[in-house]
Amino acid sequence: MNKPHVNLWHPYAQMKHLDFVPKAKTTRGSKIYMENNNILIDGVSSWWTACHGYNHPHIINSMNKQLQEMPHIMFGGFTHAPVERLASRLVKLFNNKYEHIFFVDSGSVAVEVAMKMSIQYWINKGDKNKKRFLCFNNSYHGDTLGAMSVCDPEDSMHNIFSGYLPKQINVDIPDNDLLKNKFKDIIIKNKQNIAAIILEPLVQCAGGFKFHSIETLQFISKIAKDNDILFILDEIATGFGRTGNMFASLDKSVDSDIICLGKALTGGTVSLAATLASKKVYNEFYSDIEEKALMHGPTYMANPLACSAANASLDLFEKEDRLLQVKNIEKKLYDKLFECKHFSGVKDVRVKGAIGVVQVKKMHNLNWLRQEFVKRGVWIRPFLDVIYIMPPFIIKDDELDLLINSIIKVLPEWSKKLNEV
Ligand SMILES: Cc1ncc(COP(=O)(O)O)c(C=O)c1O
Repeated sequence: MNKPHVNLWHPYAQMKHLDFVPKAKTTRGSKIYMENNNILIDGVSSWWTACHGYNHPHIINSMNKQLQEMPHIMFGGFTHAPVERLASRLVKLFNNKYEHIFFVDSGSVAVEVAMKMSIQYWINKGDKNKKRFLCFNNSYHGDTLGAMSVCDPEDSMHNIFSGYLPKQINVDIPDNDLLKNKFKDIIIKNKQNIAAIILEPLVQCAGGFKFHSIETLQFISKIAKDNDILFILDEIATGFGRTGNMFASLDKSVDSDIICLGKALTGGTVSLAATLASKKVYNEFYSDIEEKALMHGPTYMANPLACSAANASLDLFEKEDRLLQVKNIEKKLYDKLFECKHFSGVKDVRVKGAIGVVQVKKMHNLNWLRQEFVKRGVWIRPFLDVIYIMPPFIIKDDELDLLINSIIKVLPEWSKKLNEV
């Protein structure tokens, strides 16, 4: 097995214990070709980005063309065709609900911008008290400081920073009557101080793949509106088809003010993210008073190369029926993954769109588990208490079978390991 390079620092890893880092060489479709000539079927779409599979020729061609014309131009002062086209298309995808788009370079920064926008929205309106956020247990919104402050305060990897981060208001997702009443009480008590509610709609992904219903989402949206609180939807993980719809929050009764997009926006090629704001939010910044402007501007924001990839990715959503592919993946996950429910170490199995989750009672032998999947020719990366699959939408039947069967075969062996420790 490949050891990490001595000069590299990998994410979410105790480097002293990291003794296994597969070395990728090329990619195609759902496959990752390794330096050692092994092939892995990607069950996580490179952290949920490669929705069309790797190296889709349409995206590669568009990027090649853009690379020759203009890979980058600063957005402070300039505009360009790829970003203008992308902005109009994203606005249309959300039926003109969010007309103003601030492009950034990563999901965490899109969340930071959404948070800054929310606080400044109230300041620009003359209210300096509304600067806290209401966020949900099991949520994950990124690794920068503001984003960390709205993640789950206890169970997330950020809890060691708890004395340093701004203190937010954390609640359970209100998915039963008791929690709904509690939620309403907290809102009524704190609404003078809450700038916005922030939520990952329908699926809280990196916090352990917890699902909630569209009714719960509608309920939160209504409470936010009734109490004059902004509502931020973080669709960075759920956007672009993953939950079965183009966006998880595309529902007439869900009324939010800001949306964050990222990850699959460029079809898994280069980093680009976006914060979309409604006219109501934008109008509070649009003024004769200079100080009301949004003071933010990442160097590579609205990068033309990334925008050309995102435009090509949207072409593919228009030309090829990705949502049908998601439906087919969902059906297969329903048909086959539920077999895992009968295994002794398994707590729950759940499926939504192209997301299949096996939640275990207690995670153990995590490194063994990750390596075992690689030995079997699949890239599945369990964390917390979940083993999950989020494959590229173009995955072939036999490739998806291999992913699911690997979990079914590995789980009983993994359970036996518990007695060895
Ligand atoms: C819902 C959500 N928001 C924000 C982020 C952060 O995005 P990035 O890793 O691009 O900073 C993630 C990343 O997993 C995410 O899942």
